[in-house]
Amino acid sequence: MVRPDAVIVCISQQHLSAARQRELAALVAEASPVAARLVRLEGTGPHLGDALDQLVAEGHRTILVQPLGLPFSQSLAAWLPGVLAHWQQDRQRPDVTLLLGPDQAIADHTIRDIVRAAVTAEAAAPITAEQKPSLGKPGWNQPPPFRHHLIVCTGPRCHFRGAPNLKLALNEELARSGLGGECLVATSGCLYPCNQGPLLAAYPRGEWYRLLDREAVARFVETVIGRGKPIPELIVHRVAPLGATRSDVMSSKGENQ
Ligand code: FES
Repeated sequence: MVRPDAVIVCISQQHLSAARQRELAALVAEASPVAARLVRLEGTGPHLGDALDQLVAEGHRTILVQPLGLPFSQSLAAWLPGVLAHWQQDRQRPDVTLLLGPDQAIADHTIRDIVRAAVTAEAAAPITAEQKPSLGKPGWNQPPPFRHHLIVCTGPRCHFRGAPNLKLALNEELARSGLGGECLVATSGCLYPCNQGPLLAAYPRGEWYRLLDREAVARFVETVIGRGKPIPELIVHRVAPLGATRSDVMSSKGENQ
């Protein structure tokens, strides 16, 4: 049996806070007898490829990638073998053995153990009469007067292709140019054209951009947001104008092929 000399624990948690992520990373490091990393497969922050690169640079050659979720996403589990093979080929590291662990929630009956412990441990806190009923804060009634809605895909495939850096670079370029107040930047899960990522959808323009590096992000902010002009060579998709019918859309796709 091949024994790993390092482990990467992968979680898929779009809205995990940085503080909770640090807590989980510390737990993973404490529990592991070998070098360990925690990575998120979605959202922002270092991605799986970064963690593999780091561990290999530190000299590790047998790396276990262990999905962690209750249960772990089936589509991500199906995606992981290919992406690990891609990393190995892309980095030309046939000397590195990659192992992929099973979904522990199913394999080790973790959910059953958690539910049993929760019901018997008496650690739950009651919602008391002092708790004020609320669905939201007063400040959540209206958005500020943004002119652009920029949606950065942080789904797993765009994440692997650099979406965390895209979000960071976009926020920095918007702040540097003084245009941040005009843009509502949001993140999303997969928007479909993963192979064209890292991806940003700009509304109301209806243009989807592939922004591969810092230079492209700076160009996007200056040209599209600052001057209101498109950058055709970076656009990977245009949303059909309001009022277009399905057959208009299909025929314009045919013309573009
Ligand atoms: S993960 Fe971004 S388009 Fe699919």
